[in-house]
Formats: sequence, C-alpha cells, structure tokens
Amino acid sequence: MSTLVALKNVAKSFKSADGSSRLVLEHVDFQLQEGEIVALLGQSGSGKSTLMRIMAGLIPADGGDVHYRSQPLFGPAEGIAMVFQSFALFPWLTVQQNVELGLEARGIAAAERERRAAAAIELIGLSGFEGALPRELSGGMRQRVGLARALVMEPAVLLMDEAFSALDVLTGERLRNEILELWGSGQMPTKAMLVVSHNIEEAVLMADRVLVFSSNPGRVRAELPITLPRPRHPDSPEVRLLIDEVYSLMTAGATPAQAEPVRPHLSDRLPEADVGHMESLLELLADEQFKGRADLPQLAEESELTDEDLLPLAGALQRLGLATLAHGDLLISPLGQCYVDGDHEFRREIFGQQLLAHVPLAAFIRHSLEQEANGQLREEPFLKLLRESMDEQEAERVLQVAIEWARYGEVFEYDFHTGMIHLPEAGE
Ligand SMILES: Nc1ncnc2c1ncn2[C@@H]1O[C@H](COP(=O)(O)OP(=O)(O)OP(=O)(O)O)[C@@H](O)[C@H]1O
Ligand SMILES: [Mg+2]
Repeated sequence: MSTLVALKNVAKSFKSADGSSRLVLEHVDFQLQEGEIVALLGQSGSGKSTLMRIMAGLIPADGGDVHYRSQPLFGPAEGIAMVFQSFALFPWLTVQQNVELGLEARGIAAAERERRAAAAIELIGLSGFEGALPRELSGGMRQRVGLARALVMEPAVLLMDEAFSALDVLTGERLRNEILELWGSGQMPTKAMLVVSHNIEEAVLMADRVLVFSSNPGRVRAELPITLPRPRHPDSPEVRLLIDEVYSLMTAGATPAQAEPVRPHLSDRLPEADVGHMESLLELLADEQFKGRADLPQLAEESELTDEDLLPLAGALQRLGLATLAHGDLLISPLGQCYVDGDHEFRREIFGQQLLAHVPLAAFIRHSLEQEANGQLREEPFLKLLRESMDEQEAERVLQVAIEWARYGEVFEYDFHTGMIHLPEAGE
C-alpha cells in the first residue's frame, strides 16, 4: 500500500486583526494511504478545513512537510481535488460549465472537457440538468455539482470538507451512500478519501480510520481503526459500539498526560465543569438505577443535561479520578464511591487532594503561594503564563475553573476585590 499524501510536523498560524498571530495547527502528522477512507472529527475551529486546504495545496503550511506521492507539494496538485463546505458554484454558469471549469484551467481541449464533464454528471446522477443554473437546483443537487466538479478531475485523492452537512439528513445520507457505492464498485478513479465531518455516525459509517483532532492548536489526538465491511448499518450493535468508542475518545479530552509541550502544566485546558454539577452527576451515577455504571446517552437523558454540558462534567470527574470513561460509559471509581459515601468535609478533602494530584495548574499555584510569606499572589502572572499557550479569553476561563475547583477543595481562594489568589488560611 502506498502513501498518497504525507504530512509531517505541519504547523500553520494566522494573523489576527490586531497583528498578533494565532497558532491553528501544530505538530500535525498524518498519512493518507492508497485504498482508504479516513474521517477527521474535531470541534469547530480546530483547523480541519485549514488542514484540508493545506493538503489540497490551496494554502501553504508554515512549518513541516507536505508530500504528495513522495514529492513536496507546492500549490494545487493535479491528483488532488477538494469538495468545499459550502457549494461554491458560479451562479452564472450552467451545471455543465461549472463542472468543466477545472478542466479548462488545466488546458484540456473543449471536446475532451465536454466528454469528461458529461461522464461525471452522469456518474453523480445529474443527467438532464446539464443546462440548469445553480439557482434552479435543490441543495442536494448543488452539492452533487460540487462533487461532479471534483470527480471530473479524476483525482487520486478526494478531500471532502463536510460535503454532506449543509444538506437535509435524508439527502445527505443518500448522497453519502451513493459515494460509498461508487467507491466500492471501483468506478471512481479515486484512490483515497479524507472526509471531514461533525457527525460521529457518518464518520463511523464511512471510514476505515477515524481521527480525532484536538483544538488550540489542532493536531491528531487519537485514532480508531474500523474494520467492519461496508455497507454498514447505523443500527447494528457493532456500529453503535464504535460510535460509543469514538464518543469516549472525544471526551477523553486533553486529559491524560499526553505529548506535553514546553510548559505542560500551563497549557492544559480544564473542562468547563461546575463543582455542584459534578457532585450531582456522581451521585446520580452511584444511585439505585445506575449502580456505578451508565451509558452516556442514558445519563444525559436522566440528568437532563445536553451532551455539551455532560461531556465536560464526565471529563472533569475522570480527570480527578472519581470516575472513568470507557466505551462510551461512565464508571464510578472506588474513590468516587468513597466520595459519594462521605460527608461534606470528607468530600472536600478528597476533592482537594485529587486536584493537587491531577491538575498541575492547581498544584503549581498552590506551590507558588506557599513560597510567599503572606500566602498571596496576584492572578496576573498566572494568566500571563496561560496566555502563552491559549488566547486571553481561554486563559481567563481556565484560571476561573481552577479557582472554583480549588476553593471547593480548600486548596486556594480568590479575592474579587483585590484580584489576589491566596491560601485558604491567609487573607481572611
Ligand atoms: N484565512 C484565515 N485567516 C485568519 N484566520 C483563519 C483563516 N482561516 C481560518 N482561520 C482561523 O483558523 C481557525 C481554524 O479554522 P478552520 O476553518 O480550519 O476550522 P474548522 O475545524 O474547519 O472549523 P469548522 O468545523 O467550524 O468548519 C479558526 O479560528 C479560524 O478563525
Ligand atoms: Mg471547516
């Protein structure tokens, strides 16, 4: 099996309006092999589209290497085509003309262009609409034009950036299945596909490998191979299990000690989790109904929390060693059980102890305060350190979470009037 696209240590920054630069991608290593479909999942803004544009040769990386078929990639490559997140069609050109556009740019003669465009249009199910203008088409048909425009280039590598997400569910599903059929039947010249998606199910149904991307900066954080034959059924137990697994990969967050940059303890993003909510969730997990183990979707339903609220809470409990995430389930740990069984004082003690053991930022602040004669320090130096690896807003958020957790665990406190962080016994 040969490697089609190889990215090594790729980095990309963008200039913000205020002139400062923002690191969007860092240390991205990834290879797209012949014969595979890879799905890329990650939060909005994590840099997935940027990565695709770099792979398509539309924008340059500012660090690292990008190779296509072992050659360094400079500018758009002949064998790589991209389908964009929005349809990006020229409104004044017909379907046929939109599809031919790339061929024209490549200097292919009119007769040959026409023949190839007609073939791509037929392949993608748009026969009869060659003369139509984009505004005369439904969303699903417009996305088909976008696909035909990529396929007509007979790309070895097809990059699809949320190609189905702007469509209604059924249309998206149908188009996706048709592409998988084409892929399976060998009618496409395409040798590998990379699919960016926000939809875990879509990724599991399509891909041979699912990559989970982290944010700020973006990099490949986890990978899950999928060996189930296609077509796959969304309701089959194997697929549900894999969806759970991807779910838990995504929730494992930046929590475990992973590839640590220069200042490990201060680049770490604490999940947005309120202590009271964490406690309620742990109690719910320990109760009669769940007996210490719950499926995340079920837990979301019982706790009346959205995934968006539940995931950081589950991540925080895991972070503090009070629960673990496994295969899309949340399990209470022996310590978590002790916590639930304990009284208020005991709970605080466990919480504080776990905070110091597992959240280096909290341990660092506590240690710094202990060096001070009066047990106090301004918050500013900590914010400044955090800002080295995240933006201002995120730094403030992270410090606020750390302070909230630390107050509950009696590790340190914050005085709103003075902006000072202090040991619990100091400054009172
Ligand atoms: N040309 C640009 N100039 C400045 N900033 C940019 C540019 N393109 C992207 N960005 C920034 O880079 C970050 C990553 O953007 P990107 O579009 O790659 O994310 P994404 O993962 O595709 O998000 P989504 O899932 O919402 O599509 C964002 O913060 C975005 O604002
Ligand atoms: Mg995007």
